[in-house]
Amino acid sequence: MRFYCELKRVVDDSYDIETGRGLQSQLADDLANGLCGRASRFAVVTDSVVDGLYAENILELLRERGLKAEKFVIPEGEQSKTRQMKEFVEDSMLAAGFRRDCAVVAVGGGVVTDLAGFVAGTFGRGVPFVNYATTLLAAADASVGGKTAVDTPLATNLIGLFNQPKKVYIDIDCWKTLPQRQLSSGLAETVKHACLADAELFAYLEEHIEEILECRAEPCEHIAVRNCEIKYSVVMQDERESGLREILNLGHTVGRAIETVSGYELLHGEAVSIGLAAQARLGQKLGYISGENVVRIEALLERAKLPVKIPGNVSTDELLSKLYTDKKVRGGKLRFVFEKEIGAMMQFGENEYGRQTSEDEIRAVLEEMR
Ligand SMILES: NC(=O)c1ccc[n+]([C@@H]2O[C@H](COP(=O)([O-])OP(=O)(O)OC[C@H]3O[C@@H](n4cnc5c(N)ncnc54)[C@H](O)[C@@H]3O)[C@@H](O)[C@H]2O)c1
Repeated sequence: MRFYCELKRVVDDSYDIETGRGLQSQLADDLANGLCGRASRFAVVTDSVVDGLYAENILELLRERGLKAEKFVIPEGEQSKTRQMKEFVEDSMLAAGFRRDCAVVAVGGGVVTDLAGFVAGTFGRGVPFVNYATTLLAAADASVGGKTAVDTPLATNLIGLFNQPKKVYIDIDCWKTLPQRQLSSGLAETVKHACLADAELFAYLEEHIEEILECRAEPCEHIAVRNCEIKYSVVMQDERESGLREILNLGHTVGRAIETVSGYELLHGEAVSIGLAAQARLGQKLGYISGENVVRIEALLERAKLPVKIPGNVSTDELLSKLYTDKKVRGGKLRFVFEKEIGAMMQFGENEYGRQTSEDEIRAVLEEMR
């Protein structure tokens, strides 16, 4: 006997990303007006730094509108993006009486939005969530694409799920309280987006990078919107990362390996910056990008106060062996994506953006980046 369960799904996961300044009241109004459907309790998930800056105020605003809300605070930093911390948040929510009729409000950077989005995806088999992104990195990258995850000792983001928020808020005002190192870290993803899709954005960054570092409203809003548009245009064509979405890994193959090998001493964007420089240099060796453009990329990253050299305490051998845990590895061979000059990506076949690359070629680049 065989019974066939036909289950074809048509889903509408569309959502708004609102970019602006001072969006906390807007968030509270939206939740009070039913953005999360019938959710009757709200779990505001945040970290120990963002708590006092923004989350406490958001909690107050929700309560002022008559909503039942509690706050759940994790220690700040990447070290919190673990299965154990997910369990801690879930157990705390359960102990506070949260059940399936709740929604999650993530207030923070990419660590909080990744973890809280994952919690929302499995709590009661899935409850709605919204992201209030407080870092440029969360705005530039984590807001679009629906990826949620936690890290494991082997590598980052290994355990997670695709889960789309009900709405994302990108509040430029929050960038003013960001430490400069964090703002720069977010800029690495912006430079990446420019490199892979938009030569004009790259030129705009060359012209305005110092103003952005000073958090001037106009260029900050411009890059926030352009980041979303670029990531959306890639993700929309390839939601489950089967082909084109691979190009978003520009700079991340080497970057993620450095991030892990350095024991997370480098911020995500700092590691990506070194990865962008490495992948540009590798591309130059293979004839995909001119030396002049490699120099432009490294110069822009440096003006954004980002590193472009491999730290002395990270050994080439360790880095190379970590590269083999990358998800793009196929049949035990290393693969990379490459820019085609600035503003476009190399394509190596239908739906094929990665190219097998020999360990010797990579070793040579890593050695020259000391
Ligand atoms: N889901 C995705 O598609 C995606 C994409 C890119 C990155 N990520 C993930 O995002 C994470 C990195 O994000 P991040 O850089 O935002 O890290 P983060 O969340 O750790 O924030 C960085 C630091 O800034 C603090 N902070 C946050 N907002 C602040 C503000 N407005 N003012 C002052 N301090 C503030 C935080 O407490 C933290 O100490 C990584 O875990 C990465 O894997 C996810």
